[in-house]
Amino acid sequence: MSKSRIKYICSNCGYESLRWLGKCPECESWNSFTEEIIETSKRKPVISKSKYELNTIENISANEEDRIKTGITEFDRVLGGGLMPGSVILLGGDPGIGKSTLAMQATANIKQKVLYATGEESEKQIKLRASRLKLNSPEFYVQAETNLSDILGAINQLSPSVVVIDSIQTMYRTELDNSPGTITQIRECTSLLTEEAKKKHYSVIIIGHVTKEGMIAGPKLLEHMVDAVIQFEGESNHSFRILRAQKNRFGSTNEIGVFEMHEDGLREIKNPSELFLSEREKQTPGSVVTSSIEGTRPILLEVQALVTPSNYGYPQRVSNGFDQRRLSILLAVLEKRAGIRVSATNVFVNIAGGIRIIEPAADLAVCSAIASSLTEKVIDNQTIMIGEVGLGGEIRSVGHIEKRIQEAAKLGFKTAIVPPGNTKEIKSSSNILIKAFDNLEQVIKNLL
Ligand SMILES: Nc1ncnc2c1ncn2[C@@H]1O[C@H](COP(=O)(O)OP(=O)(O)OP(=O)(O)O)[C@@H](O)[C@H]1O
Ligand SMILES: [Mg+2]
Ligand SMILES: [Zn+2]
Repeated sequence: MSKSRIKYICSNCGYESLRWLGKCPECESWNSFTEEIIETSKRKPVISKSKYELNTIENISANEEDRIKTGITEFDRVLGGGLMPGSVILLGGDPGIGKSTLAMQATANIKQKVLYATGEESEKQIKLRASRLKLNSPEFYVQAETNLSDILGAINQLSPSVVVIDSIQTMYRTELDNSPGTITQIRECTSLLTEEAKKKHYSVIIIGHVTKEGMIAGPKLLEHMVDAVIQFEGESNHSFRILRAQKNRFGSTNEIGVFEMHEDGLREIKNPSELFLSEREKQTPGSVVTSSIEGTRPILLEVQALVTPSNYGYPQRVSNGFDQRRLSILLAVLEKRAGIRVSATNVFVNIAGGIRIIEPAADLAVCSAIASSLTEKVIDNQTIMIGEVGLGGEIRSVGHIEKRIQEAAKLGFKTAIVPPGNTKEIKSSSNILIKAFDNLEQVIKNLL
């Protein structure tokens, strides 16, 4: 017996309610409820009586070497070494950021059959992009289709190794009354694709748009179904793009891939530090370089600060690429522990190149850049600064110090200011002068 009725579902986390709600009690997002038809059936669960052939884990063969290399090393690294057969990857990103481009470039090099199913563009549009990207791939098949049954039919006919679904928001299953793009369709299409991929052992890259709140529609909903969630990020006014893993069942989530968008497609950036430091002014107050660890790789980044007198009552604090709340804390520490008067000034902090720093290891560079801008004194541009700043103004140790120092030495930096707790881990081999100070006040006194 089956009947259908209306329910309201949170488009973020999938929470279901019989009434429309303004705020989701589960994930606390606002205005996220959409009306959907839910089919319910009341049947007893069945436990099958068939005979099964079960394998011990030792008898199951699976190899790391089975991974399909896309030939784009930045992409493969983010995935943990390539596409795992039978895995489902959700690729999210803002409209126009380059998701289709990335998916096409990454799959076109595979020397096995690829099916690119698109509900967004026509075959001709895909062809034009492929020509612009100069793709040369005899095994790349295109299907302009939104009906998932037809796509699965084509998959059965073709037996591809990799399938791209561009995008999940355009796909639908005919068994459901809901229109494409609804939570139910997105969830059911993803679940069917996942099931088929595991059974038939092909990899699927599902492209998903990011909603205005900065999330792939129904992220919580899809996250647990897929093996990996990777996010393609960038700023519209910069040509470079960053690929980040949010979840990965087959690799680390800390890896990032850096690309630059050109007319002929995405190019890999093998040495991101050089790129991010390339436009640095020679000697300007308010500019400090730090070494951040992104995944397994150290990346040098320029922290810029601008401090200006505030003419209105309430001073402005704006940060781009650095956590706003962390900035407020650091400003309080600067004022209270290092005697840097910032309470009546506007403070702007920017991480050059539009990148985001999440680690506290950048604290020292942020504080120093602010102090440098306020005092109009330059911090030597051959110096990098690494360290977390505590509420007492103390400089706390960070992880991977050796890697960070080596990257700086490689790019010609002469001095590194590091946390005192880290000095023992640094090998003297790199020809970079290591200095450590106990607290923020000493750093600022010595450098400015
Ligand atoms: N002729 C061109 N020259 C240079 N760059 C181009 C050209 N055409 C497109 N691009 C770049 O490619 C981007 C669009 O790439 P793509 O279509 O892969 O993005 P998408 O994320 O799939 O977009 P959508 O959300 O619309 O599907 C543009 O924003 C632009 O940066
Ligand atoms: Mg696209
Ligand atoms: Zn919710």
